[in-house]
Amino acid sequence: MSEFTLPANSKVGNGKRWPTPNNGARVKSFRIYRWDPDKQANPTLDTYEIDLDHCGPMVLDALVKINDQIDPSLSYRRSCREGVCGSCAMNIDGHNTLACLTPIDSLKTGTSRITPLPHLPVLKDLIPDLTGLYAQYALIEPWLQSDQPPPDRERRQSPEERAKLDGMWECILCFCCSTSCPSYWWNQDKYLGPSILLQSYRWLADSRDQATGERLDRLEDPFRLYRCHTIMNCTKTCPKGLNPARAIGNTKHMISERG
Ligand code: SF4
Ligand code: F3S
Ligand code: FES
Repeated sequence: MSEFTLPANSKVGNGKRWPTPNNGARVKSFRIYRWDPDKQANPTLDTYEIDLDHCGPMVLDALVKINDQIDPSLSYRRSCREGVCGSCAMNIDGHNTLACLTPIDSLKTGTSRITPLPHLPVLKDLIPDLTGLYAQYALIEPWLQSDQPPPDRERRQSPEERAKLDGMWECILCFCCSTSCPSYWWNQDKYLGPSILLQSYRWLADSRDQATGERLDRLEDPFRLYRCHTIMNCTKTCPKGLNPARAIGNTKHMISERG
């Protein structure tokens, strides 16, 4: 997979180097993107050295250890620690992924680089600004729409209808895919990108939803859907093993089928 670029807020300088642990320790070095909006300074890559014998196995454990024991000013997002909330998405050694699902042992030897998800504004350190992505999520109206009055119990689906949602309900909105997509990098004000389009197809494929026509109308535009050029970075990078490119292809097919 190609390496992604650093966030686009100006020059990144060499930053502070934090002390090495005791002699004899198994040491892993991380260069971590640092930027503080309250300081009038360019971003830096600070170097931290971690004693792996006193650290949990995942990259998120290393960040927790740095924050707890070395540098409490380091900022990042995390919640579940088990790959279901999507909040710890970041770029690790050039790949967009979840820090809590990335074993430190799986990284390249030597120093590993950790930066925020690329091509988004940065709020602080490893925290990207997701405002634009959530506005795009709201635009697709991600809830079930039906003219039928609500039944006493659930709206029923056959097992086959329910199976059509597999590969989509698992999406945790981590945005690793959208921030790996060159089309999204350059057109994120108009193109919805793979994460939002996968969520959109989740409702298009739902047998209980009756707003298919309106949903497709919203996507039939030169940018919102058709800026996908099948580059496939999205599917390669998804840490949940999902296939947003297929969801986008299925959506294009639905639009062409309705003529
Ligand atoms: Fe994250 Fe995968 Fe969903 Fe994209 S499709 S937002 S990479 S879980
Ligand atoms: Fe981008 Fe994926 Fe399409 S990387 S161009 S959304 S196939
Ligand atoms: Fe929730 Fe990593 S902390 S996905």
